[in-house]
Amino acid sequence: MLPQINRLFLMVISLVAAAQVAAAGKPLRVGFAQTGAESAWRTANTNSMKSEAEKRGIELKFADGQGKQENQIRAIRSFVAQRVDAIVLAPIVETGWDPVLREAKRAGIPVILTDRSIQTADESLYVCFIGSDFYEEGRMAADWVARAVNGQGNIIELQGTPGSAPANERRRAFADGIAKHPGLKIIDSQSGDFRRAGGKEVMEAMLKKHGRAINIVYAHNDDMALGATLAIEEAGLKPGRDIIMVSIDGIKEAIQAIIDGRLNCTVECNPMFGPKVYDTIERLKRGEKVERKAYNKDLLFDATNAREMIASREY
Ligand code: AHR
Repeated sequence: MLPQINRLFLMVISLVAAAQVAAAGKPLRVGFAQTGAESAWRTANTNSMKSEAEKRGIELKFADGQGKQENQIRAIRSFVAQRVDAIVLAPIVETGWDPVLREAKRAGIPVILTDRSIQTADESLYVCFIGSDFYEEGRMAADWVARAVNGQGNIIELQGTPGSAPANERRRAFADGIAKHPGLKIIDSQSGDFRRAGGKEVMEAMLKKHGRAINIVYAHNDDMALGATLAIEEAGLKPGRDIIMVSIDGIKEAIQAIIDGRLNCTVECNPMFGPKVYDTIERLKRGEKVERKAYNKDLLFDATNAREMIASREY
């Protein structure tokens, strides 16, 4: 009975919020160009953006880029043509956005980058960035590895989507982090495109090539790490014990894998930033100044805190 009452209460609150926005004028119209649906993290991020828009009575135009930059560019053009109030872009790769962002700027539509950043010579093409500090995540992972293995071991790196900000930054930070430990070496590195199937496939090839020389897997996200654990188990080894497994995202399934002893550490990359994004757009609409770069605070999970944290994980 109690959960039903809670659900009813939430529904009433949402309707009141929607009514308030509508009463204050026309509902905000926001276009969101998402990268795709490559990982559990991405699904949680999409859900956060959609459910928060619904709560606030915001008209969200959602476009799934299906892993292709050209689809995201097409979506932005259509948002410009529809004269939305703001465009939210999670750019799949870092480069190649200037022409389409110039079109949005010319139309006077503010662009908010979420999750991933871009490389541009013209910083005025977007208003602000909201997301995580990928370099810091890679650094935390490298420090954890160095401590866990006493600065010794051969590492396989499973990279994210080539050219994406998280793959670039997590790779750079991890390399910088282990550079202080001459006994730690990345013996091979390949992209699994942030996908579970990609992580499994790359790990199968790595096991064939390097066999028992592999001591550590550093995956740029949990999905690839979880895919790699399957390949390791199929090869008759125990992930988490025979091979130390470290990744990034902090999805619930990864925390459970730590509790089960199949993963050793995951650095959080919080995807639940729907509220922050819409707060920012609403402030912009009121003519207020917003922070140019707003980073989420990310935690680290390992055997010391996984049990106590799992119940409160939202994704
Ligand atoms: O950009 C964030 C990354 O993209 C997440 O780590 C990964 O899971 C996602 O697909």
